Amino acid sequence: MIERLNSIKQEILDGIENHANSRATAFELRKQFLDSKTGKIGQLMKEMKNIAPEERANFGKSVNELKDWASSVFADLDEKMKAKELELKYKAEKIDVTIDADSEETGNLHPITQMRNQLIDVFAGMGFEIFEGTEIENDYYNFTALNTPADHPARDMQDTFYLSPEFLLRTQTSAGQIHVMEKEKPPIKILSPGKVFRSDDDATHSPMFTQMEGLVVDKKITLCDLKGMLDMFVQKIYGEETTTRLRPSYFPFTEPSVEVDVSCFECGGKGCKLCKGTGWIEILGAGIVNKKVLENCGIDSEEYSGLAFGIGIERVAMLKYGINNIKHLFESDINVLNQINDN
Ligand code: PHE
Repeated sequence: MIERLNSIKQEILDGIENHANSRATAFELRKQFLDSKTGKIGQLMKEMKNIAPEERANFGKSVNELKDWASSVFADLDEKMKAKELELKYKAEKIDVTIDADSEETGNLHPITQMRNQLIDVFAGMGFEIFEGTEIENDYYNFTALNTPADHPARDMQDTFYLSPEFLLRTQTSAGQIHVMEKEKPPIKILSPGKVFRSDDDATHSPMFTQMEGLVVDKKITLCDLKGMLDMFVQKIYGEETTTRLRPSYFPFTEPSVEVDVSCFECGGKGCKLCKGTGWIEILGAGIVNKKVLENCGIDSEEYSGLAFGIGIERVAMLKYGINNIKHLFESDINVLNQINDN
């Protein structure tokens, strides 16, 4: 009998040695010996009846010892397997946090969008709010209300895409001035960015381009206010040392009208190729809102005055980034666009 017990013991040790390589196999092995119904150790108890009565107590004790021994061996084995499996799991899931991450190519905003955002930033800092008009306008908003009636020669300055005798693609964001002044009472301080369209096409002109209109209407607005705002704008975009100069010009909707130059940020005003030796670069048109335009919108021109400016975003961007052909901004050549990242 004792041999039986010893052989079972050996079977357990061999089984562990040769077959138990996981918690699951160890559990199966345990069942073979310790299952209360079918386990080999349990079966031994059933043989009690075949044992001589005087040996029964001894036999029972030995079987119990074997059972305790096997239980503790399998408990240890389970612990060992658990640790082993955990180790394997950790190994498999190990992450090397020191490895460099794969770098993804990130895109950047289109230069015109960058410029537009910068301009919005500058003017929002001065208290301007955004008004976005529509790209299709009627003749009244784009021209007539802006003191440019049908027979006005200034209409020739802006070769217009007409969609019908009444509707057109707006040639200037100035159309937004009228919408705002019709709706709102002064004080008004708006910025109106958007696409405009003219039948014009060469190195510095494109049939579609982007403008940023500024309009301020309040009591006692003068050209000094205009110059102060524009100085601030050029300094933020082209550098602290730049300034502006106003030259007389003509627009039907402003009186007086000015052409605004920025001091050459390339040569500091000494004269270079960029400024064609003059020290100044023309950047935008502006003026004091024509009283007739205020009146067209029901604003008392005795009580209020206004200033307006129209910035060509492509022009400002071309100067800033040294782009010599406006087409570069529309061709979507990734090599060109990648060179311009101001963010
Ligand atoms: N709308 C004018 C243009 O497109 C620019 C401008 C705007 C001039 C506002 C004066 C005042 O040329």
